[in-house]
Amino acid sequence: MNTQRIAGALGARLTGPDLTQPISADLAAQLRAAWLEHGVIFLANQPLSPKQFLAFAHAFGTPVEYPFVKGIEGFPEIIEIKKLENERVNFGGVWHSDTTYLEVPPMGTMLLSKQIPPYGGDTMFANQVAAYEALSPTMKRLLEGLKGISNSAKADVSKTREDRLRTDGKHEAPKDYVAHHPVVRTHPETGAKSLYVNIAHTVGIEGLTDAESAPLLQFLFDHQVKPEFTCRWTWSPDCIALWDNRCVMHNPVNDYHGYRRVMQRITLAGTRPV
Ligand code: SIN
Repeated sequence: MNTQRIAGALGARLTGPDLTQPISADLAAQLRAAWLEHGVIFLANQPLSPKQFLAFAHAFGTPVEYPFVKGIEGFPEIIEIKKLENERVNFGGVWHSDTTYLEVPPMGTMLLSKQIPPYGGDTMFANQVAAYEALSPTMKRLLEGLKGISNSAKADVSKTREDRLRTDGKHEAPKDYVAHHPVVRTHPETGAKSLYVNIAHTVGIEGLTDAESAPLLQFLFDHQVKPEFTCRWTWSPDCIALWDNRCVMHNPVNDYHGYRRVMQRITLAGTRPV
């Protein structure tokens, strides 16, 4: 397997593996090591059927269903992330880590590109270990022990789901999820500390008034996506991205109005953040 970094902060393109074939334990271990090292990995030219995509997901963890959108026919764990020609808003088009409003948010997310616009529609990623490490010792001490409050109804992100809820929504889903998680979490596999707040879902900090938490959160939201913590991926069809939600945020760029973009997405079960 060949590994090529795509930026200083995170992200690597892997070549060699053919994921249409059964994934050996050795390949799964190599992929996981690359994923833990680089935060997000990309594998191009992988024309996987839903069954093969799910098999790849099982090599990494346990696929879980997304609370708000139905899966594709026969595969409840695979949802379509799409923006149609006539739509203006892209799904999840704001910096975030996936579903931090759940008590046990997903460990990772994988996307498989199906239809790509002729230009634009890149996805950006931000390394939250690097963002944490760049803080001053005093700010790190201030954040230690604080818990952020995530709410699925925060308008920044809930408006990006509206088109998909109309076409593919799960009508039985609760309207609102709320969870409290450490502002700084420790990665259960690498032991690294990372920032775990995001502008899409974090609405406050336990024990602080809104007036007290708002400026601190705004500082963190600005800090955590500084260009030097990011990478940017330009898609081709049949490409897989797999990122670690525990220490990486993402933001799909909405710059391709009038064109269709379709991805399949699987999220992998995580553990309660500590
Ligand atoms: C998401 O999973 O938030 C969407 C990512 C993308 O469309 O690139």
